[in-house]
Amino acid sequence: MTPKEAAQKILAGELVVFPTETVYGLGALASNERAVAKIFEAKVRPQHNPLILHIADPKQLEELVEEIPEPAKKLIQHFWPGPLTLCFRKSKTVSDLVTAGLPTVCIRCPDHPLAQEFLKLVGKPVAAPSANLSGSPSTTRSEDAKRQLEDKGIFFLDGGQSPLGIESTVIDVTSSPPAILRHGAISKEEMEAVLGESIHDKTQGKEITSPGQMLEHYAPKGHLTVVMGESEKRRRFIKHHPDYKASTIGFVGSFAGLKPAHLFELSDRDQDQRTFAARLYTFLNWCDRIEAKIIFIEFPLQQDPLRSALLDRLGKASSGNIVNID
Ligand code: TXA
Ligand code: MG
Repeated sequence: MTPKEAAQKILAGELVVFPTETVYGLGALASNERAVAKIFEAKVRPQHNPLILHIADPKQLEELVEEIPEPAKKLIQHFWPGPLTLCFRKSKTVSDLVTAGLPTVCIRCPDHPLAQEFLKLVGKPVAAPSANLSGSPSTTRSEDAKRQLEDKGIFFLDGGQSPLGIESTVIDVTSSPPAILRHGAISKEEMEAVLGESIHDKTQGKEITSPGQMLEHYAPKGHLTVVMGESEKRRRFIKHHPDYKASTIGFVGSFAGLKPAHLFELSDRDQDQRTFAARLYTFLNWCDRIEAKIIFIEFPLQQDPLRSALLDRLGKASSGNIVNID
């Protein structure tokens, strides 16, 4: 389907899965409450988990929010279009169904040519969570989204592999200083450099600031163990594990000497966590497709701007089953 056909479908009240640079989104016209309600049904998503609005142009922001605080202006100037979602006080034009009754609304302007073309043709805000069943891994290829959401009367705009592969960073700009609600493709340090002040990290505390933080699991159906450490030590751990021979391994580096049931290359070097991020959800979706029961993921120790986001997703995907063997 072309972006034009996809835009016509969504304007007619249908759901459309579309690519972004982070992950695929399951979109509905934000102003159409019946269509928005269908998102929650299709994903089996709890009603109290709010949706992000997607816009093609920062100019569309004004009518959706009560005010644009100064730090938000700087972040937008620097990171939009791109993988940063900002959380504002909402204006009356935004439906309570989108925000799950919260006084705030999260908005992002994606930087993906097909998403841009599609959103421009729609001309109105599109509400879209990630295109996966609630709790399952997000999707970075339209065929993975199709496999999870098929038979639900949804339309698909195929844009190939999403280049970043990890969801946007979510930042609350209603507080001063701003606060990170979800780690993602843009790091805390990158934002601090732009703002010239330190920002809060609300992802670690006990307080639930973003409903999705507690609900999502990004989890494959099999039992996942994340093995974090220096390459030789993590290899030794996996090879000595009683389930090694029957397992599915997402490896980093060389596969020489590994003989499990299934292998998938997440990255060919410890230093390259960008490739790891870009392939992670393809791997987790593949694990479900081949019905992998026992899964290992190798995770390098290297410091990297994506590290906080990756550790968050890996922690959720494995229910905290991360073994640090260093
Ligand atoms: O990269 C992304 O952000 C992708 C693509 C499709 O844009 N979208 C995405 O949406 O990851 P979703 O719904 O899977 O995750 C959005 C997160 C959820 O954890 C949700 O709870 C949180 O943002 N959120 C949405 N609105 C919020 C609000 N008003 N206040 C706090 N958290 C909010
Ligand atoms: Mg999601």
